[in-house]
Amino acid sequence: DAAEKGGYEYFMLKEIAEQPSAVADTLLGKLVDGRIVLDEQRLSDQELRDIDKVFIVACGSAYHSGLVAKYAIEHWTRIPCEVEIASEFRYRDPVLDRSTLVVAISQSGETADTLEAVRHAKSQKARVLAVCNTNGAQIPREADAVLYTHAGPEIGVASTKAYLAQIAANYLVGLALAQARGTKFPDEVSAEFHALEQMPELIGQVVERLDQVRQIARELADSKSVLFLGRHVGYPTALEGALKLKELAYMHAEGFPAGELKHGPIALIEEGLPVFVVMPPLHGRSLLHSKLISNIQEIKARGARTIIISAEGDEVVKPFADYLIEIPETTTLLQPLLSTIPYQAFAAEVAAARGYDVDKPRNLAKSVTVE
Ligand code: G6P
Repeated sequence: DAAEKGGYEYFMLKEIAEQPSAVADTLLGKLVDGRIVLDEQRLSDQELRDIDKVFIVACGSAYHSGLVAKYAIEHWTRIPCEVEIASEFRYRDPVLDRSTLVVAISQSGETADTLEAVRHAKSQKARVLAVCNTNGAQIPREADAVLYTHAGPEIGVASTKAYLAQIAANYLVGLALAQARGTKFPDEVSAEFHALEQMPELIGQVVERLDQVRQIARELADSKSVLFLGRHVGYPTALEGALKLKELAYMHAEGFPAGELKHGPIALIEEGLPVFVVMPPLHGRSLLHSKLISNIQEIKARGARTIIISAEGDEVVKPFADYLIEIPETTTLLQPLLSTIPYQAFAAEVAAARGYDVDKPRNLAKSVTVE
């Protein structure tokens, strides 16, 4: 067992460290002559061109990767994209037809709810594309097309490397759609792809600096509750941060869009409550950045302890951070590939500090094969 963990205390830490290759391997060979290619392409370019609506269906962390993808897919393709929890999808009679693309994201490819969502989509004549980490699993077998994530086997019940690989793969889906529909020129598709290809290097830099996060986790391990805030893709990242903490550390945690603070969550802020915030990158520093600064001021004024994840060189946010976790600068869309990693390490280390089994949290299964 110790040998399998490769010197790490638990599998999840090993899998966090494997994220640069999980993303790099998922991108490998996907750009051929300036065009994105999927693995098992049984959808023609004409079929992709005819798509006028995208639904993403998934459960758990895979669902959060879909929430991130929505921002890229709508931005690049101008096709409306909805993201839905798989167990809700088929029971609400969604509007599906031949020009609907349903993207089913699943690490295992065996999650019962996601599989049933795929079957429902197919029965309504929608096109189904699977994003999956397990070769030949049921969901890719039943889908029209497949894009495999190449994260390798994931042992930790809480998804880490498969999650980052899903984000990368989902972006390839967005680029494939954009190229088929012509909403992006071939050189723009190549440029987006090459930007993605730079990410494993930056992911490696974040992984190397996780000792700081683990130290913060030990200091905050006795907290009763932790909140996570973000805007844009920082919002799904907040949801993922909270899910990880619930799953592993059995700690109450919630993720919110920072703009919703005033509509309820701010009532939860009390003296000493830890609140994580992901700041957008400096690149094209925007309205988002200043809005988040004012959100942080609001929670600090009410006594929150702020743990800020921000791009290196972001001087503006520094005075507001009780703890500052710096990550490399990147673009807004690509930032979740970096900003998620401290959340993974934080949850794992809080769990370890509380004496819990990081790899096998109570009541949870790696793959949920019953509805
Ligand atoms: C379980 C796991 C999660 C995972 C979810 C979806 O709840 O504990 O880590 O995100 O299932 O699994 P899938 O294999 O469909 O991605």
